[in-house]
Amino acid sequence: MKVEIEKLDHFGRGITHINGKICFIDKALPGEVVKIKIIKDSKKYMVGKIVDYYKLSDDRIDEVCRYSDICGGCSLSHLTINEENKFKCMKVKELLERFGSISSEKVCDVICLDEYGYRNKVTLHGQNSLLGYCENGSNRVFNVDKCLLANEKINGILEILNKMSFNESIDEAVVRCSNDSSEVMVSLKGDISDYSSLRNVVDTLIINDEVLLGDESIVSNIGNKKFYVSDGSFFQVNKNLTKKLYDEVLDVVKCEKPKKILDLYCGTGTIGIYVSDYTDSVIGVDYSKEGINDANKNKELNNCKNIKFICDKVENVIDQFDDIDMVIVDPPRAGLDNKTIDNIKRIAAETVVYVSCDPATLGRDLKYLSDSYDVIEVKPFNMFPRTYHIENFVLLRRKNNG
Ligand SMILES: C[S@@+](CC[C@H](N)C(=O)[O-])C[C@H]1O[C@@H](n2cnc3c(N)ncnc32)[C@H](O)[C@@H]1O
Repeated sequence: MKVEIEKLDHFGRGITHINGKICFIDKALPGEVVKIKIIKDSKKYMVGKIVDYYKLSDDRIDEVCRYSDICGGCSLSHLTINEENKFKCMKVKELLERFGSISSEKVCDVICLDEYGYRNKVTLHGQNSLLGYCENGSNRVFNVDKCLLANEKINGILEILNKMSFNESIDEAVVRCSNDSSEVMVSLKGDISDYSSLRNVVDTLIINDEVLLGDESIVSNIGNKKFYVSDGSFFQVNKNLTKKLYDEVLDVVKCEKPKKILDLYCGTGTIGIYVSDYTDSVIGVDYSKEGINDANKNKELNNCKNIKFICDKVENVIDQFDDIDMVIVDPPRAGLDNKTIDNIKRIAAETVVYVSCDPATLGRDLKYLSDSYDVIEVKPFNMFPRTYHIENFVLLRRKNNG
């Protein structure tokens, strides 16, 4: 069947309509005319697969990854990076308008650095002596010995792990690298007895939660701050753009000079520590024991005397805080719960910074906050180039009546 692609959906899939029913087609671009076969036809939608091209978009590029046909990770690797950034900007505008009634004028252009090689962490799955990612839309694992999104150091380790997986039963492999590539941590799960090939190439080796080589964490840097990162804790994956994102928060702190800052969903304490030189005190909250353990070590490492961390769910402790000048939130994709939003309004800090990795829940939360806070600006950061994901920085200021 010959169809013309109308636009991209928010997952980067091409959209067309067949007899009025919406049809999603992977790796198809607006304006392209393609031959498809229907691989799913449900009541509400269809899914098509490209079998031939009649007209190609000028924005299409050759895919450079050898796994691009089976891997679902890089859904936009057939599109120029400029067009990817325009698509992501449009996506943020649409979702914030739809869920948050935020005017698109508030949304700035996308900030993007490296197209490839930006990731400081990958997670691979093991299956039948294969070690890699899951095939698009399935649980079947395909072998990956080089991921273009990961930095060189990680790819060197992937080659070794692939050879190891022929003899050892690896269920999962997490490979992490410090942002300057000087330290590597490998954490494996499975039935593994011979790890000699990793001995001279990793700084930390953890197998089934037991530290077998090196320390329990590696040290990574963001700007002039250093951070311990251990196996279970969250750490931003884009090694260069994270600094730009944190600089954005730092600029607000330098400009508004808040005396007391609350850093909610603080992970390893990174944002709070990054801005701590420019404020009187910071309180960080995260429910991850590993995260807060690292955060407390990071406080010592950076000689921060004015920061304290609480290990608990934000919603369990948020009603204890008063007299805060700035609240920073960086929640997971689910966004903020109602109790947290109500308490952010009650605390009534002059400034709120919302860092979000999901524009839909971000829009919803901005709407709930809108009776007390104005959105000043939204800056999308392309932390995950070639995928459909996008991070946002939002600056909010308390309304006079708030
Ligand atoms: C997107 S990460 C942000 C981490 C940190 N701000 C950074 O930039 O590295 C979200 C964090 O929220 C934490 N988290 C998730 N749900 C939580 C909850 N209900 N209460 C407290 N922390 C939570 C996770 O442990 C994770 O560290």
